[in-house]
Amino acid sequence: MYISSNPRIPIGDLLGFPKWRRVDSETAFSDCRKFEYSQVREAVADFIRAAELKPGDSVLVPAYICSAVIDPFQKLGIQVLFYPVEKTLAPDARAIRELLLKKPRAILIVHYFGFPAQAEAVIQECRAHGLWIIEDCAHTLPLLKKGIMGDVGDVTMYSLPKLLPIPDGAVVVVNNARLTWPHAPSKANRRLVLVNLVWQAANTLEVLIGVSLRTHLRQSRTSTKVITVLREPSTGNGQVRSYHRFRMSPVAQAIRRRMDLESIAKRRQQNYRWLLAAVKSIKGVTPIFGDLEPPSAPLGFPILVEHRDAVRSKLISAGVDPRPIWSGLPAQVPIEGFGDARYVAAHNIVLPVHQDLTPRALAHIVSALDRALAITN
Ligand SMILES: Cc1ncc(COP(=O)(O)O)c(C=O)c1O
Repeated sequence: MYISSNPRIPIGDLLGFPKWRRVDSETAFSDCRKFEYSQVREAVADFIRAAELKPGDSVLVPAYICSAVIDPFQKLGIQVLFYPVEKTLAPDARAIRELLLKKPRAILIVHYFGFPAQAEAVIQECRAHGLWIIEDCAHTLPLLKKGIMGDVGDVTMYSLPKLLPIPDGAVVVVNNARLTWPHAPSKANRRLVLVNLVWQAANTLEVLIGVSLRTHLRQSRTSTKVITVLREPSTGNGQVRSYHRFRMSPVAQAIRRRMDLESIAKRRQQNYRWLLAAVKSIKGVTPIFGDLEPPSAPLGFPILVEHRDAVRSKLISAGVDPRPIWSGLPAQVPIEGFGDARYVAAHNIVLPVHQDLTPRALAHIVSALDRALAITN
């Protein structure tokens, strides 16, 4: 059995007519300004333009983050000031208050794994200091019922391929009319779409045959690097002071139109709750969000374990894809003062909760985890 951390391409559904037209983000955000991109990072670059940030300005970004988010700031000459997060991934309000003395222009707030960031007070204080709020919803889906996420930011960003089997796609909602947003991009990133489609086709095939080569490939730094390079646009986002921007590809739009995001979110929430109850009996597992249940579509079920790499290897051998998100902090994060974020990066495993999982698959994940911990503790 192979349990991927991503859903497979719904080949059967693709052969029929779109069923779910206009029930998801299109109607959810009809009262706002919604823009589509290929990836969230491109929208971050457009935010820098819309907010008229200038080289030398600074922004606050959590230290527990991937390089894709900080890349546009750095390329466009914006200084990134990292703020610490706690083991629950809540922003460290005291550290942020001190950083406000450096007069940053914006703060990025991440709703990690689809859980609200517990940042109400921080956001209020940042607003009082005139900062723009970028609400990062990359780990969840744009839904009709937005709840506590989705409209606290001046701009809110979603990264669809993290939860849906589509090759690219980001939805950006501009909640603040003071932001004059650039025209949406018109060209698709064909190279990224091709590489990601091949990757997703491989995922679909591996789930069908029950064996994964990619999980092993991901273990190797070289192959991960090769895949990242293949996804980069050919005449690079590497240029200083410029950033490529692409539209969501037609193929991603076509697949997305055939999906009901509300029921996908429900399935993911149910699977999360199932795992939460089941891992209670396993010693050595600490869910990052404790007993909280996800109010929206969760990216995965993140847990903290000792001996993460050993547990991870055992899970892979048992056919479970346990992706850490992320296993380190960006190299630019200072050594001192980020202990909790480093702890999470070094100890987290993210169990799959996606919409394709069956009760049998969930039971397999739990028994594989139980065995992995029994051996490694
Ligand atoms: C929290 C968060 N925000 C933003 C991004 C960037 O999204 P994209 O890959 O669509 O540029 C990521 C990517 O992993 C992410 O995890």
